[in-house]
Amino acid sequence: MPDPEKALNWLELHHEGSVARLIDWLRIPSVSTDPAFRKDCRNAADWAARHLRDSGLRVEVRETGTPANPGHPIVMAFSEGSSDYTGPHVLFYGHYDVQPPDPLEQWESPPFEPRIRDGEGGRRVVARGAVDDKGQVMTFLESLRAWKETTGLVAGGVRFTVLLEGEEESGSANLEAFIRTNAEELKRCAFCLISDTGMLARDKPAITYGVRGLAYTEVSLHAANQDLHSGLWGGRAPNPAVELAKILAGLWDSERRVTIPGFYDPVREPSPEERRAWADLGFDAASALAKIGLPAVADTGEKGYSPLEREWARPTAEINGIVSGYTGHGAKTIIPAKATAKVSFRLVADQAPDRVAESFFSWLRGRTPPGCRWEFINHGGGHPATCPTDSAPLRAARRALERAAGTPPALIKTGGSIPIAGMLKARLGLDTIFMGFGLDDDRVHSPNEKFELACFRLGARAHVLLIDELRRAGRG
Ligand code: BES
Ligand code: MN
Ligand code: MN
Repeated sequence: MPDPEKALNWLELHHEGSVARLIDWLRIPSVSTDPAFRKDCRNAADWAARHLRDSGLRVEVRETGTPANPGHPIVMAFSEGSSDYTGPHVLFYGHYDVQPPDPLEQWESPPFEPRIRDGEGGRRVVARGAVDDKGQVMTFLESLRAWKETTGLVAGGVRFTVLLEGEEESGSANLEAFIRTNAEELKRCAFCLISDTGMLARDKPAITYGVRGLAYTEVSLHAANQDLHSGLWGGRAPNPAVELAKILAGLWDSERRVTIPGFYDPVREPSPEERRAWADLGFDAASALAKIGLPAVADTGEKGYSPLEREWARPTAEINGIVSGYTGHGAKTIIPAKATAKVSFRLVADQAPDRVAESFFSWLRGRTPPGCRWEFINHGGGHPATCPTDSAPLRAARRALERAAGTPPALIKTGGSIPIAGMLKARLGLDTIFMGFGLDDDRVHSPNEKFELACFRLGARAHVLLIDELRRAGRG
């Protein structure tokens, strides 16, 4: 039986090298949503491919989309497993793309020039993608390296398929087709493992067993065919900024429930046991709010549910952006020709993103102000996914994380979304285990994103030990 202690020691001895490799990867600005970074996305994919090859896996960088409308490549890597391995075949998923770094002026150091800084919890690497998701993927990649270096076994002898996507942050437009095309290959896997979520706190590791879904829309309300002088036309013609604001304000009732008819029909309530277990997590809503500069009274959301219930088990509607008319310096007296809002919905089982977007659009149609017209875009999203908490792989992950951290992990959900989880469940029947190492103040999607090196170390150790647990379980 190969010795995980050797791999763990290797990680300790080579920690600086692991961090240096992460920094190298973080230098590549793989912003998937912006065509200006297309080449960088490919470079980031190639970078990961080289790392996986170094650890002995068979690697392919596969194209996505069509020649006329190409997407960013997907990295696929395979370890066959050693001859004595009888455990499950694992699909590891991660994404190498990152969110745009703006607003740039708010970064203390340039987003793609990673820096090691000191702070609460010790040293951390600061860069776009530090925790979401390159840093977390690196915890897995370095665990593969450690097993290979110390035992010669590729991935410690466990059968892995690795799938690294380059479009997670921009809507995973080509992922569904990729999964369909490669279904035979992916179906060999027994479950999916993802490291792209968070812990409960620095000293409280966690396994996430569910993500929310997302429906993302853009709606524009058009009125006159030009901006108008507000003195001449104010009181005589519709103002789309006013009308859109009034309509969108009606999306929530006085208890902050979404008012679209049927919106809650498919929603499954959390079970009483779940609600009790979450209440026992000792989550402190006030201190979470304090970290983002808000007082305890700012705890707002749907009536009748605790903050964790609202994040993990209830759907929401948000305005992500809203623009219309004059937004430059000083004053300009106009009635704008149009108003646009980005409106998105976080979803829970069994809500379906396209159905929610459609019912939102027809809700808007029914409120069209006289003389105005709508333009709707459905930007897609992802299905929610919840996974069983008593499966053998989840138990293996719990044991691995407890051995790595010295304390048992909490079982949590997250309000964030990871579209592949729902696709794998619907298309291939695969469940997903989210073993993530982020913290709630990592500034995900914000300036000065960071990943604490203690979290990085814990992640690499946990992946080494998960491989060990899978081997042990496999022996029956
Ligand atoms: N890794 C995040 C999701 C996440 C963040 C989960 C923090 C748990 C804690 C992921 O990269 C993400 O940002 N997803 C998007 C999905 C969307 C673009 C379809 C999201 O949740 O907004
Ligand atoms: Mn992510
Ligand atoms: Mn993200």
